[in-house]
Amino acid sequence: MSNKSLEQLWKKGTDFLGTDHAIMGGAMSWISERNLVSAISNSGCFGVIACGAMSVDMLREEIIETQKLTDKPFGVNLITMHPDLDELVDICGELKVTHLVLAGGLPKTATIQRAKESGMKVICFAPAALLAKKIIKSGADAIVIEGSEAGGHIGPVSTSVLAQEIIPFVNEEYPDIPVFVAGGIARGETIASYLQMGASGVQLGTAFVCTDECIAHENFKKLFIKSKAKDATISVQIDPDLPVIPVRAIENKATIEFENLQRTVSDEYRNGDLDKTEAQLKIERFWAGALRNAVIDGDVEKGSVMAGQSVGMVKSVQPVSEVVSELISQAGNFLNR
Ligand SMILES: Cc1cc2nc3c(=O)[nH]c(=O)nc-3n(C[C@H](O)[C@H](O)[C@H](O)COP(=O)(O)O)c2cc1C
Repeated sequence: MSNKSLEQLWKKGTDFLGTDHAIMGGAMSWISERNLVSAISNSGCFGVIACGAMSVDMLREEIIETQKLTDKPFGVNLITMHPDLDELVDICGELKVTHLVLAGGLPKTATIQRAKESGMKVICFAPAALLAKKIIKSGADAIVIEGSEAGGHIGPVSTSVLAQEIIPFVNEEYPDIPVFVAGGIARGETIASYLQMGASGVQLGTAFVCTDECIAHENFKKLFIKSKAKDATISVQIDPDLPVIPVRAIENKATIEFENLQRTVSDEYRNGDLDKTEAQLKIERFWAGALRNAVIDGDVEKGSVMAGQSVGMVKSVQPVSEVVSELISQAGNFLNR
């Protein structure tokens, strides 16, 4: 069956990414590295390296090694609070990375412009329509909307609400700017539906974890396969004075320990034994290295098993190419029904 309608629906997205399919592999710290990124790009989608806390030298090496494994386009995701952000942007430009994804809060106009001056296209996250407008005015070439169904650090609003708020608005005001939808997507029918609403493409993270090419530890993949949608819960904040950045992950021992730690720290803060900064630091430190512990070292009890609600649809470990061809045929069948 022809996928002509799919090709037409996501043409703005495929033209922008330079790919066959407008599917981005969402950057995932530690695992969106050369193997997974090149496999996603080689399958006709768009792989994205997660820089996370990497140093400039580490990122340089990762880009060079990825370029050896694929001649297809791929992007780099940088977290805007990285202390060496400018140097990281520059190294991406020097190595001719085509697309930069800026995550972790609203990027400064200067950062977006710096990336564009070295020839890169810039993709930013927009958590609301007005912020989409602000980011586009700052120079963003495309936006990603990521709903709270997603794995990892999340915002408060669901994908379907963000899609209704932002896609028609951007298409009306900025018809050249592609919108990619992320959060909770695991089937082609959903991809096609968002495209029919006017999205130009999608971004998936959770669906690419259980692939042969992903270096996630076997324990991490096994827990994904066992888990249901309801198991991927949001971290809870106990004290309104001590904010916690919400993270969606599979509930485990660490989830409970984190809540207990917050209760203890909150008592110490309320008794005057800790000031606010000390209390905040104690809470933030709990998760330092937690994703690495789970995804690389395999400690899925005490580490952070970040996963989106679509984890319930992950049934086995497959090659990336198989995941992609299933998505494409589901989308095609849905559109041609
Ligand atoms: C294990 C894991 C790690 C992630 N790490 C990052 C990250 O470092 N930077 C980022 O921008 N997004 C990160 N994300 C979010 C993904 O890039 C993607 O947007 C998200 O997974 C899409 O939603 P889905 O999980 O429902 O497919 C992470 C997601 C997961 C599951």
